[in-house]
Amino acid sequence: MAALGLAGVSADMAVAQVTVPPDTLIIARQAGMDLQLALAGAVKRGIDSKGEVKVFKDAGDGFAAWGKAIPGLFVKGSESGHNTRALPVIWSDRDGFEKAAASLSDAGEALSKAAAAGNTEGVASAFQAVGAACSACHRTYRAR
Ligand code: HEC
Repeated sequence: MAALGLAGVSADMAVAQVTVPPDTLIIARQAGMDLQLALAGAVKRGIDSKGEVKVFKDAGDGFAAWGKAIPGLFVKGSESGHNTRALPVIWSDRDGFEKAAASLSDAGEALSKAAAAGNTEGVASAFQAVGAACSACHRTYRAR
């Protein structure tokens, strides 16, 4: 019986859609963005203090993964709620928004690689590219 019950559960899960209440999604993406900012601050302090750059590999991976996750956090139905600053152009210019997110992934991957190689200059320039990717997206897709 227990085994049958379990089989029923997994069959249900296979057809079920993931649904997240819009407010939860908006809070999660805002929190993720806040964490990216905190992470960027930590990396900047590390670069400025001329410490060992290998420790930034995880940061690079985190920027890269966030860039990949962003488009899926701005689904239809999450255009409003929880004081979102997401602009409608996110949905009308989807290609541009996805490109802006991909440029954060690319910069994060470059940062991760440079960090793994202990390449201080590479980390600094990839970090510039990370910052540029954040700003470029905000300029077009986020309300001030
Ligand atoms: C592809 C677009 C895009 C990229 C790349 C991006 N952001 Fe954002 N960011 C947004 C949008 C859109 C919002 C508004 C989200 C909302 O309020 O629903 C936002 C919001 C924020 C916020 C405010 C969160 C809050 O609490 O309201 C911060 C801080 C932030 N981003 C930091 C960053 C940092 C740092 C990076 C780069 C490491 C980054 N973002 C990369 C689009 C982007």
